[in-house]
Amino acid sequence: MVSLIVAASENKVIGKNNDLAWVLPLDLKYFKDTTKEHFVIMGRKNFESIPEKYRPLPNRTNVIVTRNADFKADNCLVVNSIEKALELANDANDQEPFIIGGGQIYKYAIENNLVDKVYLTRVHAQVEGDTYFENLNEDWKLISSNAHKADHRHAFDFTFLVYQK
Ligand SMILES: NC(=O)c1ccc[n+]([C@@H]2O[C@H](COP(=O)([O-])OP(=O)(O)OC[C@H]3O[C@@H](n4cnc5c(N)ncnc54)[C@H](OP(=O)(O)O)[C@@H]3O)[C@@H](O)[C@H]2O)c1
Repeated sequence: MVSLIVAASENKVIGKNNDLAWVLPLDLKYFKDTTKEHFVIMGRKNFESIPEKYRPLPNRTNVIVTRNADFKADNCLVVNSIEKALELANDANDQEPFIIGGGQIYKYAIENNLVDKVYLTRVHAQVEGDTYFENLNEDWKLISSNAHKADHRHAFDFTFLVYQK
């Protein structure tokens, strides 16, 4: 099974100026707990958006997708297609590799039917941004939903949604 994990606002924004558009500590923890020990497959821009001291993401196999044959990053696998990244995860017997963005990588993975399960954190806000995650079509069924209220650490309400095909 291949999974995708993403946080998107009501107006589908996932990022702004190669950064996230919010700070939601509980969502970061959810991301960390959910993807732990798995392959995490990311676009080159997403990788570079992670502060240097936090990358590669610990306790996970980091795979960077780029068309640049010379791209190198310490302690990461580098491949030139998402299919190749999934092949590596399969070879390593990972039962649930994760597509972790950004926008281009999500779009390609969804449109090419590479994903079986989507962990979507819906951030209940309208925010400005430049990168988007499109709404899922009716092939996707909601299998769980867990709502959280804004508080002193979280500026917005948000809901952890899980969809499967
Ligand atoms: N809210 C969330 O859950 C979330 C999660 C992750 C990221 N983000 C945000 O998303 C934004 C980054 O997304 P983005 O769309 O700009 O970039 P991206 O998808 O992270 O990376 C794009 C790069 O990936 C490579 N690439 C894309 N498609 C490819 C393909 N089919 N085959 C081979 N390589 C391919 C290319 O690298 P080269 O140019 O090197 O060839 C391309 O420039 C940031 O703002 C980040 O904060 C948000």
